[in-house]
Amino acid sequence: MPPSSARLDRFISAGTGIKRGDVRLLLAQGRVRVDGVLARDIALPVNQFSRIELDDKTLQARLPRYIMMNKPAGVVSASSDDRHRTVMDLLAGDDDRDLHLPGRLDFNSTGLLLLTNDGAWSRRLSLPEQKIAKVYRVSVAQPINENYIRAFAEGMHFAYEGITTLPAQLRILSSHEAEVTLVEGRYHQVKRMFGRFQNEVLSLHRIAIGGLVLDAALAPGEYRDLTTAELNATTQIT
Ligand code: URA
Repeated sequence: MPPSSARLDRFISAGTGIKRGDVRLLLAQGRVRVDGVLARDIALPVNQFSRIELDDKTLQARLPRYIMMNKPAGVVSASSDDRHRTVMDLLAGDDDRDLHLPGRLDFNSTGLLLLTNDGAWSRRLSLPEQKIAKVYRVSVAQPINENYIRAFAEGMHFAYEGITTLPAQLRILSSHEAEVTLVEGRYHQVKRMFGRFQNEVLSLHRIAIGGLVLDAALAPGEYRDLTTAELNATTQIT
């Protein structure tokens, strides 16, 4: 596999096994095109989605994919699972080729889930310093009160990880429903935070990641490609 991003001569060499000196010769001879344009610069930056042609042969032509899914309950957010259906099983045809999940939702959680074949984008989304807000609608077994708002905002110590959660926002929607905004994604975080109040989470539905909002027209299990505006919105900090 070639590296995800590199200078042109190294990229072609790593991807094809052609010696770097020979690649330079091909470039000098004007036999290589990148995204349809003749490429002679050995240091031209290219990545996994650059279209690269040698003479009339395509060395690489891979389109980036960015998908939003409305994850249904009872499906695992993983590429494979021994016991249960996974979100990959919900993709039609060969749509799942190359795709991975930049983040997960629990088995019974629902809502906005992203899938992509762009590792650099996933890594950006996962960087803790980006503090990308994730918004959840939560319903719980016991009534919620003002103390929750304070406790979520102050942060909670998770002894297992040895961390204190970053300030989270909780908005009370009704006696048993709240909207929770997190800027991190600790294991079962929302459930564990309500767990501090011995309050069981009955349903958890993610409605937004950064500036990207789940398309209300998507039924559970349905998915579609992101628009360019939506793609940009995922890394906006809200
Ligand atoms: N927090 C949880 O507890 N579960 C999820 O699926 C997402 C956030």
